[in-house]
Amino acid sequence: MRGRISVVAVVCAFVASNGCGGSPTSGPAPATPVPSTVVTDPHSFANTGFPYVVSVDLDLTADFAAKTLRGRARLKTEGAGEALVLDTRGLTIRSVSASGKPLPFSLGETKGVLGAPLSVAVKGAADLTVDIEYETAPDAAALQWLAPPQTAGKKLPFLFTQGQAILTRTWIPTQDSPGRRQRYTAAIHVPAGMRAVMSAEDVSQPNERDAAGLSVYRYKMDHPIPPYLIALAVGDIAFKPIGTRTGVYAEPSVVARAAAEFVEVDQMIAAAEKLYGAYRWGRYDLLVLPPSFPFGGMENPTLTFATPTVLAGDRSLVSLVAHELAHSWSGNLVTNATWNDFWLNEGFTTYIEQRIMEELRGKPYADMHRQLGRQDLAQGIADAGGPQAADTRLQLDLTGRDPDEGTTNIPYEKGAAFLQTVDSVVGRERLDAWLRAYFDQFAFQPMTSERMVAFMHEKLLRPGEAEKIDINAWIHDPGLPANAPVINGVLFAAVDKQVEAWKGGAAPASLTTKAWSTQEWLHFLQSLPAAIDTSKLAALDKAFGFTRSGNSEILCEWLQIAIRNRYEPAFPAVDGFLTSQGRRKYLRPIYAELVKTDWGTKMARDIYKRARPTYHSVSSGAIDQIVK
Ligand code: BES
Ligand code: ZN
Repeated sequence: MRGRISVVAVVCAFVASNGCGGSPTSGPAPATPVPSTVVTDPHSFANTGFPYVVSVDLDLTADFAAKTLRGRARLKTEGAGEALVLDTRGLTIRSVSASGKPLPFSLGETKGVLGAPLSVAVKGAADLTVDIEYETAPDAAALQWLAPPQTAGKKLPFLFTQGQAILTRTWIPTQDSPGRRQRYTAAIHVPAGMRAVMSAEDVSQPNERDAAGLSVYRYKMDHPIPPYLIALAVGDIAFKPIGTRTGVYAEPSVVARAAAEFVEVDQMIAAAEKLYGAYRWGRYDLLVLPPSFPFGGMENPTLTFATPTVLAGDRSLVSLVAHELAHSWSGNLVTNATWNDFWLNEGFTTYIEQRIMEELRGKPYADMHRQLGRQDLAQGIADAGGPQAADTRLQLDLTGRDPDEGTTNIPYEKGAAFLQTVDSVVGRERLDAWLRAYFDQFAFQPMTSERMVAFMHEKLLRPGEAEKIDINAWIHDPGLPANAPVINGVLFAAVDKQVEAWKGGAAPASLTTKAWSTQEWLHFLQSLPAAIDTSKLAALDKAFGFTRSGNSEILCEWLQIAIRNRYEPAFPAVDGFLTSQGRRKYLRPIYAELVKTDWGTKMARDIYKRARPTYHSVSSGAIDQIVK
C-alpha cells in the first residue's frame, strides 16, 4: 500500500495511531507516513500536505577546497498537489527535473533561520521522482569544514554535519520538519584516503572509485526518519568494534581510547531493550568527532555523534551514551512532531537515560544523576527568568523564534521530572509497560503532547491518577510543580557533610573525599558558596588539582568558580579550555561568567577572537549573543 494516499486515509491514520480505533502499528514501519497536515510546523515551509517527500537519494561530492557539497538529491514523493514545496537555506539550485525533463521552480524570499521555500511546479502529478542538482554554501550552518590543524591527526581535513533542529535544509533540499519522515540512501564521493560515515547502514563496495578517482561510500536507511537525523562525517576515520552490533569510529589516534571508554555500550542496549523493547535500528555505533563538535552527543540513528570531551579515561561521563542510545526509542522511533514538543524527545530520553544508568550502576549512582539534573533544572529556571517565565513550560510555542531557543535544561530535566512524577504515582511496572506500548504503537511516527497525554489516559491512568499527577499543570504551566518527587540520594548526603566541614574551617586535605566519583565532585563544586577567597580556592586547588583536571565536566564547573572569584592561577586553563574544544554547553556558561566584569569581558573578547574561527556555527551563534 505504498501508493497514493488520500486526505481521508491520512485522517484515519491519525485517528488509528491516536488509539481511537484500528490496530497498533508494530512491526515494519508504516509505508505511508502520517503527514503534518495534522500538525502544522511553524519552522517548515513544507506545510502544504502533498506532495509529500517519502525518500531522499543523495549523490554528493565533498569538495574540501571549495567547502561545498555538490551533487544531486533525488526525492520520491507521494500524493498529488500543485507544487512540491521544500525547505532550503543558502543552497544554490542548478536544476530541477523529473525523468530528465526540466521542471519549473522558484526560490522564495529568505526568512532568517527558516531559509527559503523551494517550490517546484508539479501541476497535480502524483508520485514523482524529482532530481535536484545543487550545491551547499561554504558557510552552511549544518556543516563544519575543519582544517587539518583542528583534527587529532593534523594531516587531513574533516567534515561533519549537524541537522537538529532545522539545519538539514542548509545541505539537503527537502521537507525539513521533524513530523515528515523519509527514507534515504547516499553515495558520497570523497578524496582518496578519506572515509565517509553516515547515520545509516553501510552498503559500500570495497574500494569503489568514481570516474574522477574519488572514493565512493554508500549508505542506506530503510526506516523513515525525520530529516534532522540524516548525518554525514568525512575524514581520516578508523573503526574499532566493541560488541557484535556495536563499535566506535574516530580518528586513528583516538579510536582505541574511545572503544575502552564505551565498552559498556552492549550492556546499555541490553538494559534498554529489557525495559522498552527491541532496538530496531540494526547496528549501534558511535563516532567521536574532533573537539569542535558543538554538542555532547547527537543521536543520529545507527551512529551517535559524540564529543571527545566525554573521553574522561574512567568511564565517568558515559551516561551521555545512555542518553543518545535512549533516543533510539524516544526521539528516533517516536519523534516530536514539531520543535514545540521538543520535551517529548529530550525529557523522555533523560528519564530513560537515568533508568539505563540505574540498571548498570545501581540506584545510588542513578540518583546522583537525577539530583544533578534537578540542580541543572533550578539553574535553567533561574536563567529563563524565574518560575513564572513562559519558557519554563514543557510545551512551547516557538512560532517566529529560532527553535534553538527552546534548547535549555528545561525540556530535559523538567521533562524527566514529569515522568519521575508519573512513576511515583502509578508505579514503575505500569509506567514501563506503558512506555513499551507507546514506543510500539507510535514507532516511526510523529508525536505531540496532546497525543501522548491521550495515550496516557487510554492505556495508563486509573481514575484519579491524572489529577494526582496534575498532567495539565506539568505540561502547560511554568515552573516546577510541587509534586515532583524529592530526590535525596545517599551519596550526596555524604558530600554535603564534607562541604559543611569545609565551611566550618576544615582544611581541604582533611576532608573525606576518597573514591569520589565525578558526580560527587560536581555536587561538591556546585555546593560551594558563590564568593570564596582566592586563598581558599588556592588551597582547594592544591589539594584536589581542579585546574589541571582532565575531566571536562569538573573543569567546566571549576573554571566558572575561578572566574567568579578572580582566581588568576586558573586563567591559563580558562584560555586552554575555550580554545581546545567547542562544546556549546561548556562555552556558554564560561563566557557568560567572564562578561560579568570589565576585566573578564576583555579576556572573553581576546579569547573569542582567536577561538571563534574554530567553533561550529551552532556554538559561535550562541557565543555571539554573549560576547558582543
Ligand atoms: N539531541 C540532543 C542534541 C541537540 C539538541 C542538538 C537540540 C540540536 C538541538 C542530544 O541528544 C543531547 O541532548 N545532547 C546533550 C548531551 C546529553 C547527555 C544531555 C548535549 O549535547 O549536551
Ligand atoms: Zn538528547
